[in-house]
Amino acid sequence: MLYEFLWKNTYLYSHSKSMLFTPAETENLKMKNRLVRSATAESMATKEGFVTPELIELYKKLAEGGVGTIVTGYMYVSEDGRSSYKMTGISRDEHIEGLSRLVSEVKDVDRDVVFVAQIAHAGRQTLLGNAIAPSAVKDLFTGIEPKEMTGDDIERVIDDFINAAIRAEKAGFDAVQLHAAHGYLLSEFISPYTNRRKDEYGQERAKILLDIFEGIRERSKIPVMIKMNACDFIPGGLEIDEAVRIAKLLDDAGFEAIEVSGGMYESIYHNRYNVVSQKVSKSGEAYFKEYAFRIKDAVSMPVIAVGGIKSLEVAESLLEKVDFVSMSRPLIRDPYLPLKMMKGEVDKSDCKSCNLCLAAIFENKPLDCYAKRKEDS
Ligand SMILES: Cc1cc2nc3c(=O)[nH]c(=O)nc-3n(C[C@H](O)[C@H](O)[C@H](O)COP(=O)(O)O)c2cc1C
Repeated sequence: MLYEFLWKNTYLYSHSKSMLFTPAETENLKMKNRLVRSATAESMATKEGFVTPELIELYKKLAEGGVGTIVTGYMYVSEDGRSSYKMTGISRDEHIEGLSRLVSEVKDVDRDVVFVAQIAHAGRQTLLGNAIAPSAVKDLFTGIEPKEMTGDDIERVIDDFINAAIRAEKAGFDAVQLHAAHGYLLSEFISPYTNRRKDEYGQERAKILLDIFEGIRERSKIPVMIKMNACDFIPGGLEIDEAVRIAKLLDDAGFEAIEVSGGMYESIYHNRYNVVSQKVSKSGEAYFKEYAFRIKDAVSMPVIAVGGIKSLEVAESLLEKVDFVSMSRPLIRDPYLPLKMMKGEVDKSDCKSCNLCLAAIFENKPLDCYAKRKEDS
């Protein structure tokens, strides 16, 4: 036990001499290092959204692998917020038991890992029918035509997010992260392209985020993070100046941290490439870094950079400006990458950003590095 502690905390740190693997804090949380596993849909729940043994195994490996903070894949806050069949649910009290098991097994592996539940509503980006959105704007990529939400729909969705956060707290998660990126419902609300409402939720497009935050605060102390688009990459969509304005509102409200991303499904239609999960050989590492820097300059809450970060060198250079760096695909490829980096065995992920992982989850197959599967077979 003592050996394990020294090995993990002393030998590895002194060996790597890196900023990435030094402790950090947000207002209410202590992280053992500055590396975050960015939310990554697992496509591993039952069709009713319950936790399965393979989902638990995935997270135990991530915890073993040394990452400081783990954000779950998006979990639906209501039935109509499901994006796909095997998405994990946090929409009913019955989901709490499985989620508690997930948290306790992960904490048994590493009680210091910060475990965050990402809570989401699909909005018009559902593959299951009956899409709702702030305005009835057709998605030019999927062809989906959502129904415009009524005032009652909005109130109900706000309650669903609040109730989901309370369930996350009951299950033992350390924090929740609102998913306001990538064109899902909350991202649709903050975007001028998808939110053309004339009511108060259109006049202040961030109002829904502030209402959810306040509603959670009235009932719980659970820290609330956000993953937010800084740019939609769609003509008439959210742009960085407006994202900075919204980030300041969230900062004033008391959000715990902000992860800065970009793109929607529809962005593919306009740009002809996947903007969210780009090919790093083309875009370069840390392809959203300038957005993260802009937001960092404007807010006091910690900022998490995400998007194509693969190497220790780039992660370290980002940490001169932002507080945390986040990875998704490199940790699908190898959940033990952080430990290997700490030990000095590896200084860069060998993920090729082929996105076979993404294609698989859209076909309801379980999350994995399918490139690695091919290489190994
Ligand atoms: C298979 C897969 C599933 C993803 N699922 C989510 C998700 O549930 N929630 C989310 O916010 N982002 C999700 N993302 C986006 C990633 O979190 C991340 O923002 C993006 O892939 C860029 O980071 P990376 O270059 O480290 O992969 C997903 C990405 C992939 C590849």
